[in-house]
Amino acid sequence: MRIEVFDPAVDTDKVKACYQLYIAGKPVDDPDGPTMSAPVYSGWFVHGWDGSPREAALAASGDDEACVGAYVLQLPDKENTHLGRLTILVAPDQRRSGHGAELLQHAASRAADLGRTLLSGETRIGSPGTPFAAAIGARPELLEVRRVLELADIPAGRLAELRGRAEEAARGYSLIYWQGPTPEEHIDQVATVVSAMADAPHSPGEEAHGSDAQRVRESDRRAAEQGVRRYSVAASCDRTGELAGLTQIGVDSTDPSWGFQFVTAVTRAHRGHRLGLLIKVAMLDRLATAEPGIRHIQTGNADSNQYMIAINAELGYKVLDEWRTWELDVAAVPAAISRVSRPGGAVR
Ligand SMILES: CC(C)(COP(=O)(O)OP(=O)(O)OC[C@H]1O[C@@H](n2cnc3c(N)ncnc32)[C@H](O)[C@@H]1OP(=O)(O)O)[C@@H](O)C(=O)NCCC(=O)NCCS
Repeated sequence: MRIEVFDPAVDTDKVKACYQLYIAGKPVDDPDGPTMSAPVYSGWFVHGWDGSPREAALAASGDDEACVGAYVLQLPDKENTHLGRLTILVAPDQRRSGHGAELLQHAASRAADLGRTLLSGETRIGSPGTPFAAAIGARPELLEVRRVLELADIPAGRLAELRGRAEEAARGYSLIYWQGPTPEEHIDQVATVVSAMADAPHSPGEEAHGSDAQRVRESDRRAAEQGVRRYSVAASCDRTGELAGLTQIGVDSTDPSWGFQFVTAVTRAHRGHRLGLLIKVAMLDRLATAEPGIRHIQTGNADSNQYMIAINAELGYKVLDEWRTWELDVAAVPAAISRVSRPGGAVR
């Protein structure tokens, strides 16, 4: 197998090859979730969800140099500079031949060269990635539960009832709506609210994400580049004028039947007023008019995030599947590889 490192921002043909691997693996790796469109996948591959730098590699094998696998190694440069977030993907008809382990070995050596000490990755429970992670001795960390709201299943009158309940507790707050880039007047406060996500559960090996005005602008720009229409609903405190809560949903313009939940956060000083429910119900109201084709909304939360999960349960979200975050020390990779090696070969 030949592994070639490439720059995803430059080599778009190789990113397309990785998208084909993703599409080929989708029926086994993620059979129930929505399919990422090519623009959204490319955007994620090139910039990630948080804009961190990355390295990628494509693996080819055989006389025809057919593409058998790939990896992308995200290298966070704001928080978590000790970490390499790794996604390995092997073509479904090429699995169980040692390619995954070989790609891991290669990525770990790059991570070490780049000063990273910890690798992390996610696998869906029930997909081949999970026994792979267990076989290499990775540590199971955070469990994220993905849920879907089927909008047609919301009983008539339910949203009005929830809105009434939330408004009762949220007197003294007003709603602000926008679509697309965050208005400059709200940028700093949006960064403050997004930073409140730091209180959400995260894996012990990771620092929480922060935010600032520049990161908000870059996130808005990435969404636009991916063809994602992003809707925002914020709650502002009438007394102080500060933004107290924010929820954002993205709709992929190539498949507007799905909405994707991004951030939902309420700052500490304003918790306990049902603002989370208020802004999420307001978002559903807004989407009903702005996105008439929307049918389902996907969200994901750590299984320990009881407050967010309780709100989602009230709205009618149902569990789709579970994703495990795994961690593996870069220094432990040689032992991990030998665990899945067969005598006589580099990897097997
Ligand atoms: C996970 C993945 C990369 C593994 O690729 P692969 O080339 O099949 O991996 P390897 O052949 O190197 O497997 C090494 C060992 O992992 C374990 N393993 C891998 N897939 C397994 C499966 N489906 N069931 C049970 N064990 C499995 C085995 O112990 C295997 O050794 P063996 O084949 O000698 O028994 C591949 O299944 C994939 O692309 N999955 C989708 C994306 C993903 O989940 N990536 C991992 C997160 S970064």
